[in-house]
Amino acid sequence: MRYLGSKATTVLALSEIIRRHATQGLLCDCFGGTGTVGSFFKRQGFTVWTGDILKFAHSFQLSRVQLSEPPKFLQLLEALQLRSLTDLEALLNRTICHDGWFVHQYSLLRKFFTVENARKIESCRTLITQWTSKGWISEVEHAFLVASLIDNVDRVANTAGTYYAYLKQWQRKSLQEFRFQFLRPTPGPMDCAAYRMEARELVATRFYDVLYLDPPYNSRDYARYYHLPETLAYGDTPPVRGLAGVPDREHQRSDFVSPVRVEAATEELLEGATFGCLIFHYVDTGLLKPEWLRARLSRLGDLTEYVIPTRGYTTSKEVKSTSQRVYVVN
Ligand SMILES: C[S@@+](CC[C@H](N)C(=O)[O-])C[C@H]1O[C@@H](n2cnc3c(N)ncnc32)[C@H](O)[C@@H]1O
Repeated sequence: MRYLGSKATTVLALSEIIRRHATQGLLCDCFGGTGTVGSFFKRQGFTVWTGDILKFAHSFQLSRVQLSEPPKFLQLLEALQLRSLTDLEALLNRTICHDGWFVHQYSLLRKFFTVENARKIESCRTLITQWTSKGWISEVEHAFLVASLIDNVDRVANTAGTYYAYLKQWQRKSLQEFRFQFLRPTPGPMDCAAYRMEARELVATRFYDVLYLDPPYNSRDYARYYHLPETLAYGDTPPVRGLAGVPDREHQRSDFVSPVRVEAATEELLEGATFGCLIFHYVDTGLLKPEWLRARLSRLGDLTEYVIPTRGYTTSKEVKSTSQRVYVVN
């Protein structure tokens, strides 16, 4: 799915940098998001531990990084008298339940989805909830269903990328028909693991051969920008508010998106770190200033810097290019 700060387009350049410093071992991606970097390095043969504080990001990481193949769904298939995952996909695509909370909030009141698509999404949600309450699916199977659902939902969302707002006009992709398809787990070492955990805690847990740090760059709060995937991951129907229908759910805003707390949080993160090689992926225009980062990181060992040029955002008149900076400490 599209994700703020995703490294989908720069992961190849990043891997060329990392491979100059380390080619195997345990790699920790503790700000892992939807698992793009983790799954890439798992495929390259690294054992990957990945983390995030968001529930939906955790379900992506379980599906794409921890799992090497789709779960078997043995109990569910037996209960539903189905033979394969293809049958399960077909069932999720053909069942239409009653319209409910989701259709009302995110299609009738707010144009995030066409009514037809919202109905299909709501039906998948209802089935997953029923299967969970009957005890027919394990936690990992639940995460795999939910992450697959969110990935498919994102393909037909009438947004400019995040769920902070919906668009006034229906975008072409939002008029495509919603289809449920399973995500593809990544083949590779079997001892990879995903943790829903604060980055500072995961980092301090142990020694990592490669410690990859990709924190948020600015004050955008991921929990709010991705409230809708997060609600799909919770499977609940909370009271929602405002133009975007953000739930009232209690959540702790990350210290890494707070201009006031980010330096202290990064300080704490680095204090707890023991590693063979540390990679800090950031931008020069982020909350942490390059001089501050350089000074702090060089206290940990030999510092090398790389720049990955990327195409920035486009307006009708100009294409701005932003660069990502990769700091490597050995
Ligand atoms: C720049 S994004 C990572 C993008 C990811 N590398 C990718 O390619 O998709 C930063 C991630 O850090 C997570 N995050 C923010 N604060 C965190 C914290 N204190 N502990 C763990 N994860 C956190 C956010 O939820 C978000 O998924």
